[in-house]
Amino acid sequence: MTATLNAPGMSFELSEDHRMVREMVQKLATEEIAPRAAHYDETREFPWDNIKKLAELGLMGVVVPEEYGGAGMDTLAYVTVIEELSRACAATGVIAAVQNSLATFPLLKYGTEELKRKYLPQLASGDKIGAYALTEPNSGSDAASIKTTCRLDGDHYILEGQKTWITNSTAAEIFIVYATLDPSLGHKGICCFVVEKSWEGFSVGKHEETMGVRASGTCPLTFEGVKIPRENLVGKEGEGFKVAMATLDCGRIGIAAQAVGIAQRALDEALRYSKEREQFKRPISQFQLVQEMLVNMAVGVESARLMVQRAAVTRDLGQSFGKEASMAKLYASNVAVQNALDSIQVHGGYGYSKEYPVERLLRDAKITQIYEGTSEVQKLVIAKHLLA
Ligand code: CAA
Repeated sequence: MTATLNAPGMSFELSEDHRMVREMVQKLATEEIAPRAAHYDETREFPWDNIKKLAELGLMGVVVPEEYGGAGMDTLAYVTVIEELSRACAATGVIAAVQNSLATFPLLKYGTEELKRKYLPQLASGDKIGAYALTEPNSGSDAASIKTTCRLDGDHYILEGQKTWITNSTAAEIFIVYATLDPSLGHKGICCFVVEKSWEGFSVGKHEETMGVRASGTCPLTFEGVKIPRENLVGKEGEGFKVAMATLDCGRIGIAAQAVGIAQRALDEALRYSKEREQFKRPISQFQLVQEMLVNMAVGVESARLMVQRAAVTRDLGQSFGKEASMAKLYASNVAVQNALDSIQVHGGYGYSKEYPVERLLRDAKITQIYEGTSEVQKLVIAKHLLA
């Protein structure tokens, strides 16, 4: 699959292969995932039926090479998948995004061959769900300040500490966990490990009652003397912060794609409703003040999508893409929130009710400005690149 937007002609059309991916996911998302989204939002159950379908289509390991059981596609295909899923159900979108990027990238880029052969096929096939455990109760934006500790004891590291807000935790069996050899070393003391849920001393806490993406299985984790085999260290000792940051560069493109999907859905719903709803003897779509909202929403979606695709293609071309990823996330998440607000406004009182999906879109959109780095953190990252 080519990793370009038809460069060098820059026609901005997806290739035939990428269009096929979009059509395949759109069909599944429209026919099966969207109709179940309100149910999962309400019940907060993990959407196993959606995830099983994605696994059957190879979409739980989109960029994982075929030799490790993945689909061997590129980042442009990946963002297309996440956008279309999130347009239907943002919780399913983030579950797939975490599996496809946060859980697999550290292994792909920094894992030993043994770790890749052991864990990637289980994740890429969707047989096991993965999660990424960096955040702690007192370490969010300041990721280098984590307090979960690891110490080498013979052939094992011993893990002690707590994590919080860990997406996929109700279902995950394979966790990428960050811990420090000594908090006084700052980011230079951090290590990255693959940890299995079944290991003694590992417990998953209560399923958090969140505002949006409510079916994303977000929970705290506790490690009480968990014994990790030495070979499950990902990268070198003290290299964990670099692994975490490089992983988040990839992850942020996925969250930006999720935001585009939510923003597109907000526009879809506003267009549909404004053409049906009549006031003053005309569909409200004929009023220029309504049209202004529709136009702003469409311009936002188009520009956010281009930024996401550019970040994806930059990565696929093997170039530095951290700035592009953060810019795409910063911009697309703002568009998602604004489009959700505007879509509610177009729907009037109905938009404020649970009868229509647009109130869910606002709740789902908000988290895209927070997880995988707040908008403020994205600005820090962008500023660092600009001033380098
Ligand atoms: N790739 C590789 N290395 C990187 C890097 C990158 N993108 N960014 C920084 N580094 C390296 C630097 O080169 C530096 O290394 P040296 O000391 O060898 O030079 C080191 O990391 C420290 O860099 P900084 O001084 O820039 O680090 P900092 O402590 O100032 O932190 C930060 C910068 C951008 C604020 C960072 O802490 C950050 O991104 N915070 C947000 C964390 C985050 O996104 N958390 C979300 C968790 S996941 C989630 O949301 C849950 C989910 O399940 C969806």
